[in-house]
Amino acid sequence: MTRQIATALIGLGNVGRNFLRILEMKGERLAREYGLAFRVVCVADSSGVAVDPRGFDPQGTRRHKETGGRVADLPGFLPGVDPAQALAQLACDLVLDASPVNLESGEPGLSLARTALARGMDTVLANKAPLVLAYQELHRLAQERGAGLAFSATVCGALPVVNIGQRDLVAADIRLLRGIFNSTSNFILGEMAQGRSYQEALAEAQERGIAEADPSLDVEGWDTANKLVILANSVLGMPATLAQVSVQGILEVTTAQLQELAAQGRTLKLLAVAQREGTGYRLSVAPTALPASSFLGQCDGWEMGVEFQSDLYGKMYHKIWEREPLPTAAAMLRDAVNLARRR
Ligand SMILES: NC(=O)c1ccc[n+]([C@@H]2O[C@H](COP(=O)([O-])OP(=O)(O)OC[C@H]3O[C@@H](n4cnc5c(N)ncnc54)[C@H](OP(=O)(O)O)[C@@H]3O)[C@@H](O)[C@H]2O)c1
Repeated sequence: MTRQIATALIGLGNVGRNFLRILEMKGERLAREYGLAFRVVCVADSSGVAVDPRGFDPQGTRRHKETGGRVADLPGFLPGVDPAQALAQLACDLVLDASPVNLESGEPGLSLARTALARGMDTVLANKAPLVLAYQELHRLAQERGAGLAFSATVCGALPVVNIGQRDLVAADIRLLRGIFNSTSNFILGEMAQGRSYQEALAEAQERGIAEADPSLDVEGWDTANKLVILANSVLGMPATLAQVSVQGILEVTTAQLQELAAQGRTLKLLAVAQREGTGYRLSVAPTALPASSFLGQCDGWEMGVEFQSDLYGKMYHKIWEREPLPTAAAMLRDAVNLARRR
């Protein structure tokens, strides 16, 4: 028996299109092994929302976007309707948010997460903004309405940092959590250390679809800070907001500084740190010199990594190499499957 999951996919950029690609690649396997068929009944991009209760063809929709098409050109387009308004009416089991980060209004992600959860729909986020702005509110809403809320793609792409922190560190008192959470800035620092220009390295990250739509989020440290806020709330039990994070980006780092550090066996990383202090944590993001031979010092280029130090589980290190958005889209699939199997 295959269970149909009526799915809304909001955002058809690098991540959203890769999600469709995974449905093309793995549709049969998802049905065979997990008994699930994701039927994409609603899609949205910056041109608007389209709905088809019979389901959009994943390959056709992906190709339409890849060749410059817009959702507004698809059959089922709803003129003047935004994603939250569409979800308020739609028969839907699952909402996937792969729209851009907007730290000012949180939109379109915040309204669509509120609407989906209020209607009891499982909600999977790659977009960090709704969590950064309203983590506690969204989790209360999900609990009240019996909806699942998962967001493992928001921190370090496909590296399951949130899952490890929530599931695998049972009863741990985490003393220190630190990591390299932004591969765009990590790649840029590595390339600059080798003499390549900042602009060239950033352009490559943008071309690969790894940089944020607004790359100042990457290089000014806000993307890393967003992830730290999500981990503080989800793993450290601290209802933190961005206002509690001291944030410094990589814009002032020079090639000369990187080369001087390299000559001393050290390397500069944009490091997120949550350091236990009293009953809470001190949260910071800043370029930090580390021994080149240390675990985080060796997270190079397209890698991101995390270190947990706790009373029960020793020092734990995890890292990922992720150069394209496919693994992040796979993290959304992982969340979607795990939520569906809980029901
Ligand atoms: N790329 C990664 O590796 C990665 C990793 C982890 C998390 N994320 C997160 O995943 C999300 C998507 O990233 P991405 O790289 O796929 O971004 P992207 O390539 O910029 O795609 C964003 C998509 O959202 C659409 N969009 C823009 N405004 C919208 C609106 N008001 N309503 C509905 N759709 C709207 C865009 O429409 P158009 O197509 O018309 O422009 C585009 O399809 C972001 O929140 C990002 O932080 C990305």
